[in-house]
Amino acid sequence: MNILIIGSGGREHALGWKISQSKRVEKLFFAPGNAGTAKLGINIDCGVSDFQKIKTVVLDNKIDLMLIGPEVPLVEGLSDFFSADQELKSVGVIGPKKEGAQLEGSKDFAKDFMVRNNIPTAKYLTVTNDNLEEGFAFLKTMTAPYVLKADGLAAGKGVLIIDSLKETENSLKEMLAGQFGDASSKVVIEEFLSGVEVSVFVLTDGKSYKILPEAKDYKRIGEGDTGLNTGGMGAISPVPFANAEFMEKVDKQVIQPTISGLQKENIDYKGFIFLGLINVNNNPFVIEYNVRMGDPETEAVMLRVKSDFVDLLEGAAFGTLDEKTIEFDERTAVTVMLVSGGYPESYEKGKVITGIENVENSTIFHAGTKTDGENIVTAGGRVIAVSSYGTSIKDALETSYKNAEVIQFDKKNYRKDLGFDLE
Ligand code: AMP
Ligand code: GLY
Repeated sequence: MNILIIGSGGREHALGWKISQSKRVEKLFFAPGNAGTAKLGINIDCGVSDFQKIKTVVLDNKIDLMLIGPEVPLVEGLSDFFSADQELKSVGVIGPKKEGAQLEGSKDFAKDFMVRNNIPTAKYLTVTNDNLEEGFAFLKTMTAPYVLKADGLAAGKGVLIIDSLKETENSLKEMLAGQFGDASSKVVIEEFLSGVEVSVFVLTDGKSYKILPEAKDYKRIGEGDTGLNTGGMGAISPVPFANAEFMEKVDKQVIQPTISGLQKENIDYKGFIFLGLINVNNNPFVIEYNVRMGDPETEAVMLRVKSDFVDLLEGAAFGTLDEKTIEFDERTAVTVMLVSGGYPESYEKGKVITGIENVENSTIFHAGTKTDGENIVTAGGRVIAVSSYGTSIKDALETSYKNAEVIQFDKKNYRKDLGFDLE
């Protein structure tokens, strides 16, 4: 079959890498893709929100299955657009409709959904300018640090964790006044939970589901988890504390009520559910839902999926996931993200990347790269994901770190302490 992947990051390159291993694939397309995906399939110059152009791409190339990588087109309703169009509705789509995408697109919707379905999560109150006083009163019942979340999509920047109550009150006012535009016209105040985080990925057709390998993501720019939040500086899978007993709790207390909640509420959901969990005394609490795969987690997780991934995606898109099986590679997989100097603040682009052809024993996924004549150049904050297998976290990291030095570009930066909090 012909498959189209929407997106242009390391996640989409890794998904394409796994998909291209399947004998079921005839042609693979990316819209818009990057310099790495161009080597796996055909890149088409088309924005992820340009639904009309995506339609043309799908019809012209006889696409059978479309996987939507990032959250923005999901929240904007790309899946709804397909199911409402006579010419597109037979195309299999991986990615929920607008309503299901609210699990990521609105923190308030997600929290409400969790409470309705008895899913463990931090205590919260949703505040707008209309109940600001109630918000201040709620903050007084909490202890520091205080967590404020913009309700809508804010490109990963909408969560503030603040130590002082006074400062939190001011930030709350600023958020409601439009600090994150429309996304913060509602703010969720949340109880702070202390523990180690883990990302758990579920593929579902809305009835049946498969749990993919879990991963731990390193979000902060600085070593020892310090400094600003980034999109993610690396990932490790499996996560030692997410043992069988913990995952059993995740399945029973989080995944099953999530899937049955979607069914009960008539939310048609075909795609990935990414559970951002925090381990509080060996109990999972949901920090956030995402309605897509994680980045850079996917760049480690795909190395650990042994089964034919197209077969699984087809099951999810066409409602036959219960007939499929998923097998994991038992080895450890890690991803080290090479980023542009200055990221996540301002950074330069257009730096020539060299040495990729000299990498041994790692799989390279491109994130922010593009082709510029003969060269591959940097085109984003997160540039290249270096993913490796190993017999242990340390072993896998050694391979990725060796290759992180083989690849060169001006002002390259990466975290050298991944896994410091595990094993
Ligand atoms: P989110 O965008 O919801 O994933 O939040 C970004 C990051 O903020 C998370 O990965 C956590 O590290 C942190 N965070 C969010 N909510 C909480 C919470 N209730 N307690 C502690 N940390 C949190
Ligand atoms: N790595 C976190 C995310 O994809 O949101």
